[in-house]
Amino acid sequence: MSEGLFITLEGIDGAGKSTHLDWLADWFRRRGRTVRLTREPGGTPLGEQLRALLLHEQMNPDTEALLMFAARSEHLARVIRPALEAGDVVISDRFTDASFAYQCGGRGLAEDQLAILEDWVHGDLQPHLTLLFDVPDDVARQRRESARAPDRFESEQAAFHDRVRTVYLRRAERFPARIKRIEGHGSIEQVRARLTPHLEACLDGPA
Ligand code: TMP
Repeated sequence: MSEGLFITLEGIDGAGKSTHLDWLADWFRRRGRTVRLTREPGGTPLGEQLRALLLHEQMNPDTEALLMFAARSEHLARVIRPALEAGDVVISDRFTDASFAYQCGGRGLAEDQLAILEDWVHGDLQPHLTLLFDVPDDVARQRRESARAPDRFESEQAAFHDRVRTVYLRRAERFPARIKRIEGHGSIEQVRARLTPHLEACLDGPA
């Protein structure tokens, strides 16, 4: 049986990561793998209810962080861990790097507080590969502004998204073996060509 693979996609709102989700899933399926495509917050019936609250209800930053991890705990127990145990490829549109970027970078929570939640909820498990989509902020801002009904995060000011991006880039420097920064500019084909070497390396396993 193949080893389970856990891949996450990250980036500021408007970075364009979701455009590549189905293509990524097909890339692994064409290589004979079973793929579980999922997202955070969400991914389970309870998680999707929490997502609706998180994206649209006002709440304080601690509540927001705790609900993100409540949804994540459910997601891990019901979807991520069983799929990895079955040898599947799990591709999640966001995971805990988003909590560091948005709740710490964006909202100002202390990273050591958040690290306590990370340790509690999945101290034993990290993604094998994280694709961090990065585009200049003006490109992302135009995409956010064209969103039809912007949610609580999309409606934040540019400074919020700058802080989110700064934390993402800092994490990519801190965890270079796991987090790969992908230049999000150019055509869809150009971006996919940048992704492929990382996917191949991930399939081949650790060097
Ligand atoms: P999405 O737009 O990529 O579906 O994500 C929904 C929003 O939730 C996005 O603006 C980022 C935010 N988010 C956090 O603030 N913290 C988290 O831990 C996660 C997973 C998402």
